[in-house]
Amino acid sequence: MHILVTGGCGFIGSNFIKYMLKKYDDIRIINVDNLSYGSNINNLREIEDDRRYRFVKGSITDTRLMNNIVREVDAIVNFAAESHVDRSIVDPQPFFKSNVEGVLVILEAIRNSGKNIRFHHISTDEVYGDVLDGSFIEDDRLKPSSPYAASKACADLLCLAYYRTYGINVTISRCTNNFGPYQFPEKLIPKTVIRAMLNLKVPVYGTGKNVRDWIYVLDHCEAVDRILFNGRAGEVYNVSGGNELANINVVEKILDLLNKPRNLIEFVEDRPGHDIRYSLNSNKIFRELGWKPKHRFEDALKGTIEWYVENEWWWKPLADERILHPTPWKLKW
Ligand SMILES: NC(=O)c1ccc[n+]([C@@H]2O[C@H](COP(=O)([O-])OP(=O)(O)OC[C@H]3O[C@@H](n4cnc5c(N)ncnc54)[C@H](O)[C@@H]3O)[C@@H](O)[C@H]2O)c1
Repeated sequence: MHILVTGGCGFIGSNFIKYMLKKYDDIRIINVDNLSYGSNINNLREIEDDRRYRFVKGSITDTRLMNNIVREVDAIVNFAAESHVDRSIVDPQPFFKSNVEGVLVILEAIRNSGKNIRFHHISTDEVYGDVLDGSFIEDDRLKPSSPYAASKACADLLCLAYYRTYGINVTISRCTNNFGPYQFPEKLIPKTVIRAMLNLKVPVYGTGKNVRDWIYVLDHCEAVDRILFNGRAGEVYNVSGGNELANINVVEKILDLLNKPRNLIEFVEDRPGHDIRYSLNSNKIFRELGWKPKHRFEDALKGTIEWYVENEWWWKPLADERILHPTPWKLKW
């Protein structure tokens, strides 16, 4: 099987490519990534000589490139996206270019190919917006809060429309917050770990009571693998880790695991439109595809922290003052 992975030089995409090459002997993967700021070619260093793997630097918004590559493959997994909420608040436009127009270009390339190509689109729990009680199921309405989440919701609707109108073989997964090795240092867990290691104040937005459901990145990769091969066309699957925690609790756990004092915590001005709580009901993927997360949050968090401690070569060149800024949504990027 020949799979196109887009955005494979980012955090989740690079973990997914390595997971797939390790699990299956008989696949080939082509990775298209435009190497935007959140990407890192070093994420794939260990497999760059693998003959089953090929990297193409390019954008999913490039129609000619996508038409050529899509014709070669049997399946596509689209991770490519502008992914940081704070940046989308400062400058939404690039988010709509990559996250919406890019998906349209891929869908059109599939349509033009005339082939039955499975297209798995990676979405997010953020498309539903926040919820105080209960958990969202796949049929719930979309009510995104940030420009990032709105761009992801647009892409989901495009995919579903292409399924309905043209019969394109689409599946979508909406996953909760990922963590693990190779996550760009601007995101909550790596930023907290790195700032604490450097004995810098650790910023927490608002009261720190905002709740996120955390999933270890390899559990997400396994869910995508299951949906790619066995998911039903035209269907959306929620993917949650089942680890709902307030941001302040995540930060406290990290400080404790690093033996750093809690007085490093500094409450800072809240992000505009900050969602209170995300929560997903993942019974559909449990029931239909037999997927369940395997990693315990505490163990995976400990392993992730150890990875950042041991891999300074990876994060040091990325972790400048702007990336580790306490309130990045106030910066001009
Ligand atoms: N990180 C999370 O917690 C999380 C949770 C749910 C869903 N997601 C989704 O998973 C996907 C991957 O997220 P991530 O955290 O790995 O993000 P990331 O920012 O680490 O990686 C995104 C990758 O996409 C590439 N990219 C961006 N625009 C592109 C374009 N136009 N053409 C080609 N490549 C492009 C970037 O260079 C980067 O390598 C995104 O679609 C995101 O919305 C992430």
